[in-house]
Amino acid sequence: MIMIDEQYVDSLYGEDADLMRAKQGIAAQGMPDISVADGYGRLLTMLVRMNGAKEALEVGALGGYSGICLARGLAEGGRLTSLELKAEYADLAKLHMTAAGLGEKVDYMIGDARESLARLKEAGRRFDFFFIDADKEGYPIYLNYAIALANPGAVIIGDNVLLRGRTTNLDKAGPAVQAVRAFNQQIADDPRLMSTVLPGYDGLAIAIVKSS
Ligand code: SAH
Ligand code: DHB
Ligand code: MG
Repeated sequence: MIMIDEQYVDSLYGEDADLMRAKQGIAAQGMPDISVADGYGRLLTMLVRMNGAKEALEVGALGGYSGICLARGLAEGGRLTSLELKAEYADLAKLHMTAAGLGEKVDYMIGDARESLARLKEAGRRFDFFFIDADKEGYPIYLNYAIALANPGAVIIGDNVLLRGRTTNLDKAGPAVQAVRAFNQQIADDPRLMSTVLPGYDGLAIAIVKSS
């Protein structure tokens, strides 16, 4: 029997009650099954912890799966700001965060993330950790806001940078594909960043905003 590598790695880990509750709640509401991959969720927790992040920002909450992963890694007193287009999704995410004992650590901002990011910038907010995971057309905009809102040494993550094969399929050139290709190229080229791109699951971009 052949197991794909991601399935093998996932099979090493037992079920996580808080994350399972989030996935079941998402399915029960008929919401899409597009939470971050389990292995990348674990990586998010580790990267938040390794960075010692106190202020984390997520773009795209869905049902709170990645929110749980991010908030678990936060330093004592740390906070997560989560940007979500749909109020009913943010409500469900808050429910799942609360059930996981993390509800007090998260603030939701409802509406188009472009507008929420403009407000955060205007308010002079700064963050140590960014998880970009909303509409793919917005990725280049979200990356530039992340750089603008970053404390030195901040971590910026982008999910789904392979778009289930569309990023590397040269016959594809729709707006989401073009935006994600531009995002990936900026991740690689921007002199303000140090980065890598992991090709496992649906691809994950990881960058650090250099201190100088
Ligand atoms: N990060 C979540 C999955 C997010 S799915 C997790 O891994 O658990 C993408 C989310 O982005 C959806 O909830 C969708 O409603 C939201 N979204 C889409 N367009 C958006 C926009 N313009 N602004 C803010 N959120 C948006
Ligand atoms: C898909 C997966 C995601 O994690 C996401 O944020 C958006 C879309 C997908 O598989 O279509
Ligand atoms: Mg995603």
